[in-house]
Amino acid sequence: TTAGPGWAAEVRALARERDAVLLAHNYQLPEIQDVADHVGDSLALSRIAAEADASTIVFCGVHFMAETAKILSPDKTVLIPDARAGCSLADSITAEQLREWKAEHPGAAVVSYVNTTAAVKAETDVCCTSSNAVEVVASIPREREVLFLPDQFLGAHVRRVLDRSDMHVWAGECHVHAGINGRQLTEQSQAHPEADLFVHPECGCATSALYLAGTGAVPEDQVKILSTGGMIDAARATGAKEVLVATEVGMLHQLRRAAPEIEFRAVNDRASCTYMKMITPEALLRSVREGTDEVHVDPELAARGRAAVQRMIEIGN
Ligand code: 13P
Ligand code: SF4
Repeated sequence: TTAGPGWAAEVRALARERDAVLLAHNYQLPEIQDVADHVGDSLALSRIAAEADASTIVFCGVHFMAETAKILSPDKTVLIPDARAGCSLADSITAEQLREWKAEHPGAAVVSYVNTTAAVKAETDVCCTSSNAVEVVASIPREREVLFLPDQFLGAHVRRVLDRSDMHVWAGECHVHAGINGRQLTEQSQAHPEADLFVHPECGCATSALYLAGTGAVPEDQVKILSTGGMIDAARATGAKEVLVATEVGMLHQLRRAAPEIEFRAVNDRASCTYMKMITPEALLRSVREGTDEVHVDPELAARGRAAVQRMIEIGN
């Protein structure tokens, strides 16, 4: 399939014929974001998927996101334009490893980031995303141990905010966010001292951001640890003229649309997720034309993970 000049109109027409709603994550290519019915972060898109009237959901994102939509809406057809779009973070823990970890901590509550496979969700008490991780862990009584997985940087952030020492954190990471480091953030903030810092909690530099704020190197109110959806709200609310953005570079497109008067700069402009970028116009066109790639989740696994995912979409804003 090649995508010619009229590809976007063709995608919309074919989606209508199929009774399909098009969802796109904030890290998708700009042209994919622009053709979608809804663009958002993982939590917002999960909520939309759960409530969608359409009989088919085309998920322009990575595989665990489409799986989550299928778990929430098992009777709908869920398509991902390229099923090879995986996630290095989701790959950092298997269900078998989680079962072993649970056996070492009997009675602990398992909190899994949404960036996990359906098999891991089936072993989980409650899922979270970066926008509600703090609220989700806060909902677990303090007397209960917590196993948080798989992202070590998000886990460290939650543990710091809640001052919760009984929280064990898996040592996984996302290769894209781990690569946005403290040195890059410090250099950029020195070069742009007036700029706000918007930092995704999966970043290797999240601790450095708080250090810069704590030492007064950057005024505290200029430093914000945010999910991708939170960054859009913060961009609309800030009075800053410049913002340094520490997350995957696809995010810049929605930020510039939300606040065109602000200069947004990537802290690391090579922080691009190859999995997210597998969803090309060609792949999307093929998907709505041929109904590919359909996402299946084993019904027994889906049933075991559903309560954890449903709690996730109920908690936080
Ligand atoms: P959010 O959309 O929750 O900010 O997550 C970012 C991410 O890395 C998804 O893969
Ligand atoms: Fe996974 Fe990282 Fe890509 Fe997000 S940016 S989909 S966490 S590999």
